[in-house]
Amino acid sequence: MNAQALCLPTVYLNGKFLPIEEAKISPLDRGFIFGDGVYEVIPYYDGRGLRALEHLKRLQRSLDELEIANPHSIETWEAIIGELIERNGGGNVGVYIQVTRGVAKRDFPPPPGLTQTVFLMVNPLATPKPETYEKGMSCVSLDDNRWLRCHVKATALLGAVLLKHEGSKLGGDEVVMFRDGYLTESSASNIAAVKNGVILCPPMDNLILGGITYELMMELARKNGLPLEVRRVHRREVRAADELWIMSSTKEVAPIVTLDGKPVGNGVPGPVFKKMRALFEDYKRNLPAAPSTSLKAAE
Ligand code: PDD
Repeated sequence: MNAQALCLPTVYLNGKFLPIEEAKISPLDRGFIFGDGVYEVIPYYDGRGLRALEHLKRLQRSLDELEIANPHSIETWEAIIGELIERNGGGNVGVYIQVTRGVAKRDFPPPPGLTQTVFLMVNPLATPKPETYEKGMSCVSLDDNRWLRCHVKATALLGAVLLKHEGSKLGGDEVVMFRDGYLTESSASNIAAVKNGVILCPPMDNLILGGITYELMMELARKNGLPLEVRRVHRREVRAADELWIMSSTKEVAPIVTLDGKPVGNGVPGPVFKKMRALFEDYKRNLPAAPSTSLKAAE
């Protein structure tokens, strides 16, 4: 495959902006050997980040969980991101950040004193087509068999990869996962249900990733008087829900209209979704401008 098709041409690796073809890391990087690293995906619309600061704070929390020191301040991260977007021509992009523990002899216990590997790339933001928001998505349910630290945005994603693959083989656009009978999330998105006008939201515990889009959705609901309950949601309630939503930085907020081949509610995007979609669009239209930090000033 042409390397340029893998992402936009300029990437950032360990202090340098360079063409993707020239970006090389050691095969002994613990990110490659063990998946020993964390990541973020931050949406930028014409240079304006959607909750970029919250993403960078979550990156800090993920690094803390793995006891990896954060190599950069928030200002430096913002400056690297700004320059990378500019070097790739701007537009609506998803910024991917990965920090791994670094290169070491293969051994399970992380040795102290490693230098983190820092990699960033940008991709055109793969938001769903307008039809997806109008017609909705078809999903399949699966048992969530990932590890018990799903709140960490770790690069070790094999559990999620295999679940998504299984879901695709079953014909699902995405998966809706349950653990011990209760709703968790999708393979790379959060899920909420609506019953009798109330938005039912699984708690942000260790069983799901605390999504930035999910958090924003809850904030918009509360500010605009849409009833919302944060609590465990049983499979039975999901089966009987009027609406089901899927949320992430790339999907934004999208409706699920069938689950396991059966209609969710009336089988069309519901009225609460339509309200939330409008609130989300409005929020996006009014995103604050990007901070004017330059990389030199930040360092
Ligand atoms: N995924 N849950 C999981 C397991 C995720 O991987 C993601 C994000 C989310 C939604 O989080 P946010 O709203 O902050 O994007 C929930 C990203 C998009 C990815 O892995 O590509």
